[in-house]
Amino acid sequence: MRNAAITGWGMALPEQVLTNADLERMVETSDEWIVARTGIRERRIAASSDTTLSLSLAASRQALQVAGLAPADVDLIVVATVTPDMFMPSTASLLQRELGAERAGAFDLAAACSGFVYALNVAAQFIRAGTYDTVLVVGADTLTRMIDFTDRGTCVLFGDGAGAVVLQATEAPVGILSTLLGSDGRGACHLFVDGWGTGIVDDEDRTALRRPYMKMVGSEVFRFSVRVMGEAAEAVVKQAGLTLADIDLLIPHQANIRIIDAAAKRLDLPRERIWANLDRYGNTSAASVPICIAEAAAAGALRPGMNVVLVAFGAGLSWGATLVRWGTDGVERRGGGE
Ligand code: UT7
Repeated sequence: MRNAAITGWGMALPEQVLTNADLERMVETSDEWIVARTGIRERRIAASSDTTLSLSLAASRQALQVAGLAPADVDLIVVATVTPDMFMPSTASLLQRELGAERAGAFDLAAACSGFVYALNVAAQFIRAGTYDTVLVVGADTLTRMIDFTDRGTCVLFGDGAGAVVLQATEAPVGILSTLLGSDGRGACHLFVDGWGTGIVDDEDRTALRRPYMKMVGSEVFRFSVRVMGEAAEAVVKQAGLTLADIDLLIPHQANIRIIDAAAKRLDLPRERIWANLDRYGNTSAASVPICIAEAAAAGALRPGMNVVLVAFGAGLSWGATLVRWGTDGVERRGGGE
């Protein structure tokens, strides 16, 4: 049985920090409200020199270096993003050019905050099927470019960033062991950015909406996310033939600490078995899970043999989960690093 193991990881964040105190000067809010209702204290904001591509590139270079691979070793690049640098070509194609990954196919995948988990599962299928041996998977978003900084219901939540992992083929029972992808398009109206796509057919509307902003019914997304995070995590654990007691680490999408706590309660997991960094980065959309992976790996919190559950939700409404057995057993090291 061919499996897809995570052999490299990397992350990139803009340097510019926006604190809750900064936001207090911009909208009617307070540090107290933001911390109590979300757990977020500060987030990183893309400067004019930061783009989804530039952050993806930095995270990808790190991930390849950790895997000991050269760009030419990569067979496929998948970038999960809803904030591409441009409509076309894909950010993945631009990333391929910047990396010099000349053998790789490349495409973007849009599943909003669930994007990285979706992309990881799609990439793993190519490896399981024997189509490819080495896939670079990136989750990257610069959502603050689509945030209305006069809307306190959204502007306190989001930050920018990118994370990347390298997936490699192995015959050992490690890597992505089970997967779940979900969608309920009836909830599309609860979280969306309009004025951006070809659905706007009237030229006047297009001009009026030139700066597209995210709109969200936070309470609806909250209710949905509390339910699906727990359900999806449970489902992938069961699919892998394990029980909740086998979960060593939960890496959830970083949207709101109350959502994470509710999922943890349902899964009966203590705080020390949950990775959370939203206090420092806010919700970085598709980047949140791979940033957590890179941070946890660098901190030595991911050790061979651990069962790690990745779970995310977002616009769509969409959700996804994966059970990863951490480790690189049986991975053939072909490259020599950059
Ligand atoms: O990746 C997926 C992206 N989206 C999400 O994850 C969002 C999920 N939802 C949430 O995290 C929460 O719903 C929010 C943090 C967005 C809001 O928290 P809530 O506990 O659901 O608050 P609420 O929307 O029910 O609003 C409660 C009150 C309202 O005032 P009134 O009507 O009770 O007077 C809001 O106007 O809090 C007010 N409020 C704020 N007050 C201070 C909303 N945003 C703010 C703010 N500062 N930033």
